Amino acid sequence: SIKIVTIGGGSSYTPELIEGFINRYEELPIKEIWLVDIEDGKEKLEIVGRLAQRMWDAAGYKVKVYTTLNRQEALVNADFVTTQFRVGLLDARIIDERIPLLHGMLGQETNGAGGVFKAFRTIPVMKEIIKDMKALCPNAWLINFTNPSGIITEAVIKQFGWEKCIGLCNVPGIAMMNEPNVLGMEPTKLHHQFAGLNHFHWHKVFDNQGNDMTDQLIDHINEKNGGTPANIYQAEFPLELLHTMHLLPCGYHRYYYLEKEMLEHSIEEFRCGGTRAEQMKEVEAELFKIYQNPDLTTKPEQLKKRGGAYYSDTACECISAIYNDKGSHMVVSTKNKGAISCLDSESIVEVSSIITAKGASPIAWGKMRSAEKGWVQIMKAMEECTIEAALSGDYGQALEAFTINPLIQSGREAKQILDELLVAHAKYLPQF
Ligand code: NAD
Ligand code: G6P
Ligand code: MN
Repeated sequence: SIKIVTIGGGSSYTPELIEGFINRYEELPIKEIWLVDIEDGKEKLEIVGRLAQRMWDAAGYKVKVYTTLNRQEALVNADFVTTQFRVGLLDARIIDERIPLLHGMLGQETNGAGGVFKAFRTIPVMKEIIKDMKALCPNAWLINFTNPSGIITEAVIKQFGWEKCIGLCNVPGIAMMNEPNVLGMEPTKLHHQFAGLNHFHWHKVFDNQGNDMTDQLIDHINEKNGGTPANIYQAEFPLELLHTMHLLPCGYHRYYYLEKEMLEHSIEEFRCGGTRAEQMKEVEAELFKIYQNPDLTTKPEQLKKRGGAYYSDTACECISAIYNDKGSHMVVSTKNKGAISCLDSESIVEVSSIITAKGASPIAWGKMRSAEKGWVQIMKAMEECTIEAALSGDYGQALEAFTINPLIQSGREAKQILDELLVAHAKYLPQF
């Protein structure tokens, strides 16, 4: 009998997760799911909890959904803990996105100054969660979805010493789901190899005979074909660049390869409909109205408006692969162990892996070309500086993380952004 605990249970994504578990019930016989939230998320938690219970009941399975604000009560003897919380909820994300934009720099949930501050707010909470897990469920697996997912996973494994942790993102899954359609091929005939960091991975695709399909897919990359998550504006990649790299970038690479276009677009968006976070607050309100309908027993279509759509397939498959020792091929954030030769073997990377009862075994990528090697090394350094600053609360280290971040223009205004974000988020930054 399996006990699942979901921290940040009041998330609008929870019905997805429940649907994923329902679809896999025969292979993953869950007994109870504990949705954990905090006082500020209590209303959302109750609404989602009731919908989750209706979904299980309608599916005809005897699974009990518990909702609680007491994390410790929930964690006792948990088998799998999933984390999908947002410290400060969407209001904090609005601040992360607005303040840098008001200074003419990118404001984004996981990139640039916003992403750094999301890590600053999340890492102290994660530290407490791991402390509780060590005491209450020392054998549990932690499946982390909380962003910035790669940075948080690195803090959990390297800093807090919780080895049984896998970090997830829906972006690789969306690409793998979409590419067979683009090529008009059966999904089982394509093989993917991913490497990089979370929201900064590249991949290659081969067919059953070992023919490299990457270049064909590059030629389709600028089509609006559903291969990119809903939250990323699809500025056009220069095909010459991608053919030279001979790699498929992820959607988030646009912020780095097309920095100016992406910034211009987010300023435009900011002027017209507000930041992405403000728009998602409206979508969230709409979703919660729908969730309250007592006749609703399935995940509503409107959830597709969120960039994280389909993540539950990844989360539930990962849990099932561990539980059933499946040996599934998945792209996850895990310890490098040499898979990317130009990064430390202890670093957390997002790579194709085989998932078994022992967790993730990363598949070797091989040598990276100079350009990719340079990018991942600077991005990993930025992640490490961010974690150091999040743990110490040291102003100089925070400024160092900002200075090395490729999406923050260094200098006087960067310091202003840092100061303004520190004040605006003071409530959630006890370490500073
Ligand atoms: P949200 O704003 O709805 O927050 C989810 C819940 O977390 C809320 O109900 C909130 O009250 C709760 N929460 C806040 N602090 C908490 C704490 N200390 N303990 C327990 N619960 C707490 O967020 P969302 O839009 O549903 O996103 C949830 C998280 O998942 C975010 O971190 C987001 O960045 C992440 N996400 C990740 C991916 C991915 O690919 N890895 C995709 C989408 C979203
Ligand atoms: C993406 C990602 C997430 C990201 C989210 C944003 O695709 O993989 O990590 O943060 O979706 O979606 P939203 O709808 O909240 O802007
Ligand atoms: Mn993601």
